[in-house]
Formats: sequence, structure tokens, C-alpha cells
Amino acid sequence: MRVLGIETSCDETAVSVVEDGRRVLTSIVSSQVELHSRYGGVVPEVASRQHVLSMLPIYRQALDGAGVRPSGLDAIAVTRGPGLAGALLVGLNFAKGLAVALGLPLIGVNHLEGHVYAQWLEEGTDPAVEPGFPLVVLLVSGGHTELLLMEEHGRYRLLGLTRDDSAGEAFDKAARVLGLGFPGGPEIQRVAAGVADAEPFPSPMLRDGTLDFSFSGLKTALLHRAQASGAPPVPRFAAGFQRALVEVLVVKTLEAARRHNAKGVLLGGGVAANAYLREQVRKRSPVPVLVPRPALCTDNGAMIAGAAFFMTRNMPLNPGLGLELDAVPGLRLG
Ligand code: KG4
Ligand code: ZN
Repeated sequence: MRVLGIETSCDETAVSVVEDGRRVLTSIVSSQVELHSRYGGVVPEVASRQHVLSMLPIYRQALDGAGVRPSGLDAIAVTRGPGLAGALLVGLNFAKGLAVALGLPLIGVNHLEGHVYAQWLEEGTDPAVEPGFPLVVLLVSGGHTELLLMEEHGRYRLLGLTRDDSAGEAFDKAARVLGLGFPGGPEIQRVAAGVADAEPFPSPMLRDGTLDFSFSGLKTALLHRAQASGAPPVPRFAAGFQRALVEVLVVKTLEAARRHNAKGVLLGGGVAANAYLREQVRKRSPVPVLVPRPALCTDNGAMIAGAAFFMTRNMPLNPGLGLELDAVPGLRLG
């Protein structure tokens, strides 16, 4: 089954064509980073307007890249939440127009489930081999930080979540404190690379017995120490911040896996692109670690098409399906 996946929940306009939830024929991601970087964060209305401008050209580029005509598609998949309402609506309405014009079913996808199914897109994975369930899923993105138990395809139980900032937000705010660019995660990773004398910061809620997170205190600690030092040693502080944040992600993820006898640990979301996080989880996990390559961790349309395939495998897909869909900015998983 060939699914066109559309993602516009935040600041990426992304379209992809994926076969059978695994084979990515093309994945086009148009990032608005430069547009938002002067504000130090994503401005919702600016994002929506840029999606309006980018949507059609990116769709055409994706079909050309895949060498597929519209008539060669079997379904349209689109992110219906969570995300910015205006941004979601652009993708959703474009997808509805396409579904009507092409007489195809429309599948609304939870963006967070998309991040999970990015793992199934991996090249080189054997389609016959499924990772065993249950899996502990660490979802770490700009909008979310949560631990889930994935009991089987499409079934999730929430184990813990952040009480304040998401991990991605914490990286972005820390980068701003240190005078680095946006988005902050890749910038912190870049300047922290190879630093041997990282500034020690405490890892928040490390051994509190819960599977919840909190990052706003760590961000404030960084801010205070940066202010106190006048001209902070940026690489040293960035490395210390990254280490403290990653430590709590790793400890709680492995604790969740232990408590729930997980057969594996799956990382997803933009922060899962972080090299230090990937290295630490791989080094310390007693169970297999599943983590998509970095380009599939950050927002893309392939993960939306992939999730749609697995969600609807045992469902009749008729034209007219999904035309009543609405955007759900606060959509949850589990
Ligand atoms: O999943 P994503 O692309 O968008 C959302 O759904 O939010 O995640 C974006 C977040 C940003 O906060 C960004 O700073 C962070 O992911 N990020 C990283 C890295 N690459 C992206 N954080 C740490 N290290 C990275 N290499
Ligand atoms: Zn995302």
C-alpha cells in the first residue's frame, strides 16, 4: 500500500510517500527554521502562513521524487494533532482536498505515534522481524517528553511525563541562555562535543521513584550560573547541561524498562537525534535499543505515512473515510 504522508504540526512542511509502512520512496522536509530563528522560537501564525505557501510545491516535489503519479497512491495520511492549531489545519485541509479530488481514504495520525513508527521505516530492517512487545518508548520532542509502554501495535500506556518543560524546550531555552542558535538541541550538541571538563549540574528528579520529569529547574540553574559567571564558558556549560538532562532521561527510561519487563527500548522525537543520548542509552541498556536515524527522529512526513499503514492494517479503507477529521492540538497518546 502506497501512502502519502503530510506533516505540518509545527515548523516543518513535510510530505513523503511510503510503501507498506516501511519503504520510504521519498521524504521532503521544508524547514522554517530560518524564518523563526530571529524570534528564538516558533511563532504560530508565521508557521501557518509558511505552510500555506510551501504545501503545494512540497507535495509536487514529493510525488516527483517518488516517481509516483497521484493515481498511484492508495491513501492520504495527515497529522491531526498534537501541534499548533493553525499549522495543523493547513495540512489537514490540503489533505482533505486531495482525498476528495483523488477519491482516496484519509487517515488522521497522532504525531506522537508517527515518532514511534519512524522506527519501522529503518532501511535494512527485516519486515518479517518485529521487535518484541512490550517496548518502553521515550518520546522526546519540542512539545513532549513522556515515557510510554507500547504493549502492541497501536496500544500505549502512559508511564510518566514532564511536569513542566519538554526536553526539547529545555535544550532550546538553554541554547538561548548561552547565546547559541535555534533550534537549541543540535547547537548544544555541537558545542558540547569533545568537552572533557563539563560543568556539573544536578539531574532533576533523578531518584524520586517516579517516571516523571522536570526540566525547568535545570534551565534556571543554568541561567543563574551563567549570570553569575559573567561570560560563561559556553562549551563547558553546554556539555554539563546536556549531561544532566540526558542522565535523567536514561535513568528513567531504563528504570521503566526494568519495572515493566520490556523487551526493548525505543527512542523517538527530535531530541532522540541527540548523539550523547543515543550513545548513553545504547551503552547502558540491558535490552535492545531501537532508535531511528537522526533524520527520521525530527519531524517528517514518512513517519506519518508509516504510522497510518500500521494503524489501518486490519481496516477497510474506503473513499470518503476521514473527511470529517478535525485538528486536535492537545491530542495525547496512551
Ligand atoms: O520532534 P521535533 O522535530 O518537533 C516536535 O515535534 O516538537 O523536535 C524538535 C526538538 C527541538 O526542541 C530541538 O532542539 C530538538 O528537538 N532537537 C535536538 C536535537 N535535534 C533536534 N535536541 C538535542 N539534540 C539534538 N541533536
Ligand atoms: Zn515531532
